[in-house]
Parts: sequence; C-alpha cells; structure tokens
Amino acid sequence: MEFPKLRPRRLRSNESIRRLVRETKLSLDDLICPVFVRYGEGIEEEVPSMPGVFRYSPDKVIDEVKKIRDLGIPAIILFGIPEHKDEVGSDTWSREGIIQRTVRLIKKEVPDIYVITDVCFCEYTTHGHCGVLKNHHVDNDATLENLKKQAVSHAESGADMLAPSGMMDGMVKAIRSALDEANFYEIPIMAYSAKFASAFYGPFRDAAQSAPAFGDRRTYQMDPSNAREALKEILLDVQEGADIVMVKPALSYLDIIYRVKEATLLPVCAYNVSGEYSMIKAAGRLGWIDERKVMWEVLTSIKRAGADMIITYFAKEVANLINRGEMA
Ligand code: PBG
Repeated sequence: MEFPKLRPRRLRSNESIRRLVRETKLSLDDLICPVFVRYGEGIEEEVPSMPGVFRYSPDKVIDEVKKIRDLGIPAIILFGIPEHKDEVGSDTWSREGIIQRTVRLIKKEVPDIYVITDVCFCEYTTHGHCGVLKNHHVDNDATLENLKKQAVSHAESGADMLAPSGMMDGMVKAIRSALDEANFYEIPIMAYSAKFASAFYGPFRDAAQSAPAFGDRRTYQMDPSNAREALKEILLDVQEGADIVMVKPALSYLDIIYRVKEATLLPVCAYNVSGEYSMIKAAGRLGWIDERKVMWEVLTSIKRAGADMIITYFAKEVANLINRGEMA
C-alpha cells in the first residue's frame, strides 16, 4: 500500500493522538541533578558561565538538596571544591574532606535523596590533572591506589553510589575490589566509561576550578573521533564490574549512546555536560532560540538514543515543567 491510502499525517492531527503514539517521554525518573559544593560558610555563588547553577558551601547546600528532592528528582551527583589543593589531591580521601563532610550532612538532613559522588582528582590537585603525576604524565597505577582510598572514604561517609570519572585503565576493578574488601559490596559503581576529551567541559572547569595547569587530558580521555574504541571501553568496564555505564558528553555523542545501548545489558547513563547547557542558555538569553523548547528537544533526543538516565544541569527546570504538566 502507498499514498494516497497511506498517510502518516493521520497520526499527527491533534495532541491527543500525538500523545498516544509518542515513543519517548521525559520523566522525573530520568534525572540526576549535579550539585557543586565548595569550602567556606554562607556561600551561594552563581557560576558565571552557567546561569542558574550555583556553588554552595556545605551549610547552604542542604536547602538546595531539599528543593531537588521536593521536585521529585531521585538523585544528585556531587562535585567538590576543597579549600586546599595539593600534588595528589589528598582532600579526596580525608575524613574531613569537602565531599565527606557534605555527604554526611546530606544523609542526615535529606536521607531520601540518592547521593552519587564523582570520584576523581582534578578539582583537588594543584596541577588540575585527574591523578598522580610522574614527569608531567598521569601515572595510571599510582592513581589507582589513591582512587581506592577515595572510594572507600566516600563510601564510609555514606555515599549511595560512586562514579569514577578519571578514565584510568583498571579503575572500576580497583574500586570494586577496594569497596568489597571494606565490606561495601552493596554500593554500585557508575563508570564514566566512554568519556571523551571534549571542549564541552569548559564551563564545568570554571565551576569546579579544575582546568589542567598545563597540557590537556588527551592521554586519558578519549579521542572524539572514535566510536569503536568507546565500545571497547564500555565492555572493559562491564567486565571489571561496573553496574551502570556512562557516555559523556551526550549531545554530540548520540551515536555512541545508541551503540552502547545495543552492546550491553547494563543501564546506560548520559551526561548532558556543562557546555551543552551553557550554549542553550546563552542563545536563549540572546533571544536566538526558544530555550525551553530546545532544552526539551535535546533531552528527549538523548533519551531516544538510549539513555536510561541523564545527568543534566537542566534537571530542576525539567522537573518543574513535568510537575506542572507543561511539556508532557
Ligand atoms: C572530572 C569531571 C569533569 C566533568 C565531570 N567530571 C571535567 C573534566 O573531565 O575535565 C565535566 C562535566 C561537565 O562539563 O558538565 N572530575
């Protein structure tokens, strides 16, 4: 059969029928909201390149986390900015580290929000690289030893899930065995498995003060040109014991999300990163695009590509729209 008997437009004629045939719908259940916490007291400062995103001191972060919880968002992912950075990022495994103190506080005050911690070193080292340096090069295996300490320390502070983002070889295996040895066998690992060396992280590095002091991250993060290598990274992390795998960034990597979803039975997370957020905010402010609609379309496309969950700085805005039934 063909035209004029076949007419796809019949199923688009009004919103009721469009609702019935809609294949992909954003839901509160898809959302993970990033939260930046920094040293100090009474601080609530907007990140200049990320309008609507704030850095909070631990005392101020609780109200923000309550708001996120009250919107119905199931989870947050925490990033920390410590008071003192050093060569190895020792704040990351200190009982009094910025993440440890904050997680304890959140778990006490807002126990029903699921707390994921980013496990990495770049915000904590003076050089801004994601591990231990030897001759200006990130030493993989020395970094694994510190990752184990960081992971166990996050778990001790009450984190619900750990998300290692440093792209070290063997990091999932190292963290899994360290957690198991410390009896944290129930804590899942969400691995930033296919993380690309992307210029879209620019605004985040302002927010987290984590830009590398020299060089770049291309000896550990992936070349944006490579899709098969992304699958290799994903499959290795599955073997090493990851519970959830992640693709990052999301928007320029929808093909990777799609392929990863086909290649594994694990849930797939996509990280809608800072630059993807800031571009939409900036163009929206200039009046060049309809910010809200573009946001919705981008997040829908990430879900349609195969993401089971999305880390996004838009989480609160999307949740608001969903709760008001405005874009459903
Ligand atoms: C590393 C980390 C980065 C992001 C999340 N975890 C930055 C980087 O690799 O330079 C980027 C997130 C974003 O751009 O929103 N700890």
